[in-house]
Amino acid sequence: VNIAVLGLGRMGQALAGRLLEAGHAVSVWNRSAGKADALVERGAKEAGDPTEAIEPAEVVVSVLSNDQAVRELAFGEGGLQTAMGSRVYANSATVSAELSEELGRAYENFVALPILGAPQAVASGNAVYLAGGPAEAIDRLGPMLASLTSTVKRFGHPGQAAAAKLAVNLMLLSSVATLAEAFAVGRSGGLSEEELRDLLGESPTVPPGLKNRFEAVLTGEGPTWWTTRLGHKDARLALELADSAGATVPVARAVTERFREAEAGGLAEEDIAAVGRMGQPSPG
Ligand SMILES: NC(=O)c1ccc[n+]([C@@H]2O[C@H](COP(=O)([O-])OP(=O)(O)OC[C@H]3O[C@@H](n4cnc5c(N)ncnc54)[C@H](OP(=O)(O)O)[C@@H]3O)[C@@H](O)[C@H]2O)c1
Repeated sequence: VNIAVLGLGRMGQALAGRLLEAGHAVSVWNRSAGKADALVERGAKEAGDPTEAIEPAEVVVSVLSNDQAVRELAFGEGGLQTAMGSRVYANSATVSAELSEELGRAYENFVALPILGAPQAVASGNAVYLAGGPAEAIDRLGPMLASLTSTVKRFGHPGQAAAAKLAVNLMLLSSVATLAEAFAVGRSGGLSEEELRDLLGESPTVPPGLKNRFEAVLTGEGPTWWTTRLGHKDARLALELADSAGATVPVARAVTERFREAEAGGLAEEDIAAVGRMGQPSPG
């Protein structure tokens, strides 16, 4: 399949790399220069703007950071709307349910396609894809999805796939924030790092999805997969969605505030595990 990937951040890089490996023809575009070099070496074709990137493609995937960026791409000047025609347009950025529905109305074949999993899960084919939109459009993504994953969850509407993604992200963000506070409680009572590792490292109270961040939350050191800037954005989107429907979600509000503080407090480009550095008791 001829696929255009728009946005080459951590997720876009992983996605385009996986598609190249599977033998698809991939054209790529990124707002700032230099991000496509490694992919071009592996066979991708770099385009100077989004319209050029989608020209040869049957399927277009955008993986930009947030609502504003996707909105500019989809509705802005020089953006995609007029050029897209009957191509399938899948948005894999995590954005609001509202924007996802709007895209569904504006584009002929739009699928909200948020991804559950870190960039390395995308690269290894172990991420889960949430596909929301008309069945025929999702079917047309079949050959691409077959080389990306063995798990696709389908939804009738784009906004439902967006809501599903936000619900899962809230689980992960709240458990990272809670684990950091469990460490703070233990340390407040004099437990050492080693004792905390022994107590909680294999505990069933720590969900499997948190295992790969356990050490990073405990020690404050680790790789960056998902920045606190994006984590704050996702918690806020989850909160706003619940608020708009009249649901009461005080924990989501507290989690959003925690990641807002992390972003504002110098940890914006660090992994979400960096909340483990916040609020620990003072030594001695
Ligand atoms: N990382 C994860 O674990 C993960 C997992 C699931 C879903 N996601 C979601 O996937 C999306 C991308 O995440 P990421 O980790 O790849 O983020 P990232 O590494 O921060 O990359 C962000 C990308 O968005 C582009 N961008 C930002 N604002 C833009 C604008 N106004 N116009 C055009 N391009 C713009 C950036 O371009 P420049 O290079 O020019 O800045 C870059 O390509 C986000 O919605 C995120 O929530 C991430």
